[in-house]
Amino acid sequence: MNKNNTSTTQTHTRRTFLTRFWLLLGLAALAELVWVAVSFVKPKKQKQTAATPSIITAGPVDSFDLGSVTAFPRGRFYLARLENGGFLALSRECTHLGCTVPWVEEENRFVCPCHASTFDIKGVVTNPPAPRPLDIFPVTIENDVVMVDVSEAVERKRFEVGQVVRGY
Ligand code: FES
Repeated sequence: MNKNNTSTTQTHTRRTFLTRFWLLLGLAALAELVWVAVSFVKPKKQKQTAATPSIITAGPVDSFDLGSVTAFPRGRFYLARLENGGFLALSRECTHLGCTVPWVEEENRFVCPCHASTFDIKGVVTNPPAPRPLDIFPVTIENDVVMVDVSEAVERKRFEVGQVVRGY
């Protein structure tokens, strides 16, 4: 083998090594880019914390007067006890633009501070612009104790008697 052939072979080997090195480096960079992109797009799991249980124990049936409204700030709802003894758990979010609606005891109605919508004790609109009644949360009564499932508010177009939960 002459000197020229040896030099050519060494150059070829070095070039092959560098090509493979850059190829590996490129693949590592691509893998990292894909990993970052997937991490960014993948939705994170929502943690259910102890501070936000989905079932709120409101209390014994008899602890709520007829025709009363009790606020449960932790569950973001009002528990209304109607004159017939039935219960409704009303969302405190106005159905117009979502402002928190306070219960005004002296006026016996909910009055939205944002655009003056009002709702009666059943959450029914008595003054627009709110387009529909306050949302409700499912109520159950077990052993004379009222429980409210606040995991998902239920939209309604109108008040219906079937929405009222009574303990017998
Ligand atoms: S947000 Fe309540 S009336 Fe507009």
